Amino acid sequence: MATFAVARAVHGIEPLVATEIRRSRLGVVRGLRHREVWFETADEAGLLGLRTADDVLLAAAVVDGIGCERAALRRLARAARELDAHRLVRLAGRGVDRDGLEVSASFVGRRNYTRFEIEDAVGAELARPLGLPYHSRGDGGRPPREAMSWRVTIEGDQAVIALRVADRPLHRRPYKTASIRGTLHPPVAAAMAELARLEGAGTVLDPCCGAGTTLIEAHASMETAGGAAGPRLLGFDHDPSALAAAAANARAALRLSPEGRFGWAVADAGRIPVPDGSADRVLVNPPWGRQVPPRGLLAADLGLLWREVRRVLAADGLAVALADDVIPRGFAVEEALRVSLSGRHPVIAVLRKRGRSSPG
Ligand SMILES: C[S@@+](CC[C@H](N)C(=O)[O-])C[C@H]1O[C@@H](n2cnc3c(N)ncnc32)[C@H](O)[C@@H]1O
Repeated sequence: MATFAVARAVHGIEPLVATEIRRSRLGVVRGLRHREVWFETADEAGLLGLRTADDVLLAAAVVDGIGCERAALRRLARAARELDAHRLVRLAGRGVDRDGLEVSASFVGRRNYTRFEIEDAVGAELARPLGLPYHSRGDGGRPPREAMSWRVTIEGDQAVIALRVADRPLHRRPYKTASIRGTLHPPVAAAMAELARLEGAGTVLDPCCGAGTTLIEAHASMETAGGAAGPRLLGFDHDPSALAAAAANARAALRLSPEGRFGWAVADAGRIPVPDGSADRVLVNPPWGRQVPPRGLLAADLGLLWREVRRVLAADGLAVALADDVIPRGFAVEEALRVSLSGRHPVIAVLRKRGRSSPG
């Protein structure tokens, strides 16, 4: 019997989550909502392999007629009381020997109730049949990390009550043991890899690789796509400590899946140490100067980065960049996806070299 699942995502990449669900034959997509993809699956174990999603949950109830008035709280409490929490916990492959239960709620639009009121209304009803204590976030409470995690989301007049499948959100990658300021959210890096169409690529390069997220996610996406010999994955950064983080993370990723061919080196992205046309794909999340300042040659002219990306990219290559609004000269935009990330709205742009020679 198919299970109704909900993948949570960064706003803007919902269509890519749907693509990954279809491509990996994980299930049948039933709809996209704000930050959510609803789908049916018969592969509960496979859910944990989703990389573009922030989190994945099993839906326990869809509740219609949720208005903006406070009556919605009673309606949600009744739905929580009537659902079969034990069945869902079994489906998620978990026991009830947990450190209590917590609920996290969110909604789109203005409402005459708060997220905490939703959480408390639903949490109390879920906790009772499961025989678990409910940990409220009201009054600044912080549920224990080991608590069973439920979620309520409301968009329009429809709510879903759902149970997280994994012990922690999927975006918290086990490989990411070392981090740097401005490091990329892994599902966004996975979305960049999805857009880069990596099948058949020989060399994938990130000239400002930081903690290595784009290349590690590229490696993982090839694996889940069932790629043969994966590409060479070359990461450069101006900052040796960022490269140390990247190498540590790659080692951790390789313990999980040992086939990756990573190479890391200190280099200035204003002078990338590879020959012209030698990269089939470039994945890049440049230093925009908000969280991470451009250093070295880029400090004077960020345009140098794009000239170099254009130089190293093969004629039929693709660059996928997480960029602020400016699309670099000398590139044609194949696809652009605006995402919401830490209060900003950058674009994931898929770029192809325009023309044959003269840069810029
Ligand atoms: C936004 S961060 C990249 C984060 C990375 N995608 C990650 O997931 O950790 C930008 C990176 O550019 C690097 N950087 C700054 N100036 C550079 C330069 N001239 N050449 C190469 N890297 C540079 C910084 O050290 C930083 O690691």
